[in-house]
Amino acid sequence: MNLVDLRSDTVTRPTKEMLNAISYSKLGDDVYQDDPTANQLQEKAAELLGKEDALIVTSGTQGNLISILAQTNRGDEVIVGDMSHIYNYEAGSTMIIGGTSLFPIPNDNTGSLDINDLQNAKKSDDYHKPKTKMLALENTHNMAGGKVINLTELELITSQARVLSLLLHLDGARLFNASIYLGVKPKKIASYFDSVTFCLSKGLCCPIGSIIVGSREFIQECRRWRKILGSGMRQVGVIAAPGILALDTMVDRLAEDHLNARFLAEGLSNIKGVLIDPENIQTNIVRFNLSKEYSNKSKILVSELMKKNIIINPSKDNFRVVTHHDISKKDCEHFLLSIAKILKN
Ligand SMILES: Cc1ncc(COP(=O)(O)O)c(C=O)c1O
Repeated sequence: MNLVDLRSDTVTRPTKEMLNAISYSKLGDDVYQDDPTANQLQEKAAELLGKEDALIVTSGTQGNLISILAQTNRGDEVIVGDMSHIYNYEAGSTMIIGGTSLFPIPNDNTGSLDINDLQNAKKSDDYHKPKTKMLALENTHNMAGGKVINLTELELITSQARVLSLLLHLDGARLFNASIYLGVKPKKIASYFDSVTFCLSKGLCCPIGSIIVGSREFIQECRRWRKILGSGMRQVGVIAAPGILALDTMVDRLAEDHLNARFLAEGLSNIKGVLIDPENIQTNIVRFNLSKEYSNKSKILVSELMKKNIIINPSKDNFRVVTHHDISKKDCEHFLLSIAKILKN
């Protein structure tokens, strides 16, 4: 039986078509900006997100870091959600490398923010304080269980941020999951922001890479920061070729991952010992808890599932499973039957 890897959508392997595209891609030297495949991907991404220009970078973390460094100076501050990936999982990189601090305000359980908290977080012009320069949002929101900030909410928060003269960055690692869920074009979501990053290497199945989009001038500055970080890459077409294919063929199919996630959530809600509200599952991330009486099972859950060829990340009390291209409905059924058995024994 094949491995059912539910840890993340980052575990997806490139498809045969992607590997073929890599072998046939036209290559150049991207530091000279003459890799035709990289250029084609960047033009396509910019067009898709309605921005002037785009840049391929090594990872989502690098995309967020470069986007922030290119728009802030040492001593500036970026407001982020306290559950955001930028704040929790990017090693404080903006502070280490750019001297730009992060100021967290509470995320609600949809990944959104309260505009009063936003207003209070913006510092006055006072030399005792950092200069609040930017607000960074995340959509879909990973720690909020793949939740989507809807357009009304986005409009509200971003217009308030503009009133406060803040720049706006979107960590759109899973931007296409958000656009599929909302039934809007990705450029609609991107239109609220100065800079957006999205990942090729998550649900879109590519082996490596993320994209930053924004104005021509901003992307030029990003190119400089990418070089400073040692990621001025050469024959980037080998990364870009699957990226082009992904944008053409992998976006619409994310809806299937959302259906499988919902199927998993509904199945889990019928298993004694599992706490989950399927109504909360909007995209491809499913978070669930074990009830108190079953909490002793949390230690053995991962190893018992492994015996059935299923991998999930260990957790003390809040488990996350993620659906993706390499997870079928049958795999979901196998997971549900397995977890039900483990909790029953
Ligand atoms: C919301 C979000 N932003 C950024 C990243 C970082 O992406 P990468 O792992 O490519 O650095 C992730 C990765 O899981 C993520 O979930």
